[in-house]
Amino acid sequence: MAGIYLHIPFCKKLCFYCDFYHVVTHDNNSEFIDALLKEISLKKDYLGEETVSTIYLGGGTPSVFTVKELESILKQIYLNYKVTDDCEITIELNPDDVQPDYLEGLKHLEINRISLGIQSWRDSDLKMLNRRHDSAQAEYALREILKSGFENVTIDLIYGIPGMSLKGWESNLDFSFSFGIKHLSAYHLTFEKGTIFGKMLEQGTISEIDENDSAAQFNLLIQKAESAGFIQYEISNFGKPGYFSIHNSNYWKQVNYLGLGPSAHSFNGYSRQWNIRDLKGYIRAINSGKPYSESEELDTRTKFNEYIMTSLRTMWGIDLGYVEEMFEKEGYDYVMNLSGKFKNYGLMKHEKNSLILTNQGKLISDNIISEFMMPVNE
Ligand SMILES: C[S@@+](CC[C@H](N)C(=O)[O-])C[C@H]1O[C@@H](n2cnc3c(N)ncnc32)[C@H](O)[C@@H]1O
Ligand code: SF4
Repeated sequence: MAGIYLHIPFCKKLCFYCDFYHVVTHDNNSEFIDALLKEISLKKDYLGEETVSTIYLGGGTPSVFTVKELESILKQIYLNYKVTDDCEITIELNPDDVQPDYLEGLKHLEINRISLGIQSWRDSDLKMLNRRHDSAQAEYALREILKSGFENVTIDLIYGIPGMSLKGWESNLDFSFSFGIKHLSAYHLTFEKGTIFGKMLEQGTISEIDENDSAAQFNLLIQKAESAGFIQYEISNFGKPGYFSIHNSNYWKQVNYLGLGPSAHSFNGYSRQWNIRDLKGYIRAINSGKPYSESEELDTRTKFNEYIMTSLRTMWGIDLGYVEEMFEKEGYDYVMNLSGKFKNYGLMKHEKNSLILTNQGKLISDNIISEFMMPVNE
């Protein structure tokens, strides 16, 4: 089983926090689609004989495309790859693109999972983030999606936004859980270099929220999600039983995937490839028949670090059997020795044959993960 990720790089407006590759224009739309269709067929052997069980249309903003355009992309995938009948097909939608006839079109294409980028239900936050939509549009979009019969629906929220109090975050969570959503991705705001917020942070015109406030918002998220029947299967991802994202879970389980479109990454178990992070450069590269810009063979330590980085963020944790099989006695002993102090501090627990972060540990997951990283250039 394998996955396909498609990166649609167009956005209608620049969100101040966002570091995902995107261009705020629509100009190269048809040139881009031609290149994407070409790339889909150029890379048809990348996954070998593997069957595709998940397709993810992400971005950027895939909902800038018409149903017809999306159909041509999916058709090209079906033509070139073996896709399972019950393939999970996700599309990211921006609230102001959602209309009943568009949703009907998506259903017709057998897209069966919707990810709606709400970010916050409070207009003051949305303004600050420079989102295109307001809370009324988000509510309309979510109601229409649920009304039109989509069952597997997830929303994105951001917390840790400057100016957002714990009460504000609580009302965002309560309102979100009052809908029939099956999944929530909730991310703490990060200030990425090169974004507007990153620059404002450097200039001192914005500041990150206090660590204690961050912790309180994270703890509230865990508590509210749990009472609403959601399972935190990854630090930022909460799903009702049976509604975890298969596509994203597969990234964390080292399943192979093919990434298409500018900036997209691919992984085949041994190496990682990534496409150029530039729309025009991408179109040129595809048209010249030389699709990849860079590639890296993964040595054992890099694979080990990647495994720890992803598995420790999940509810399944580090599978010690897998570590022993893949990284032999050296890897196993290293993990067991290092885990001792985290277990003593109550940050990690040893359950069955796995090492899993406790809620206390999840709060400082980045620090714990970085302690587990093996130096790679020795
Ligand atoms: C690929 S992005 C955007 C998908 C879609 N274009 C949208 O804006 O709704 C996926 C999600 O990552 C989150 N995200 C992106 N940058 C972030 C940042 N710097 N801090 C926290 N969350 C971020 C947002 O919640 C966003 O919806
Ligand atoms: S958050 Fe979404 S809409 Fe905003 S710039 Fe990033 S990809 Fe585009």
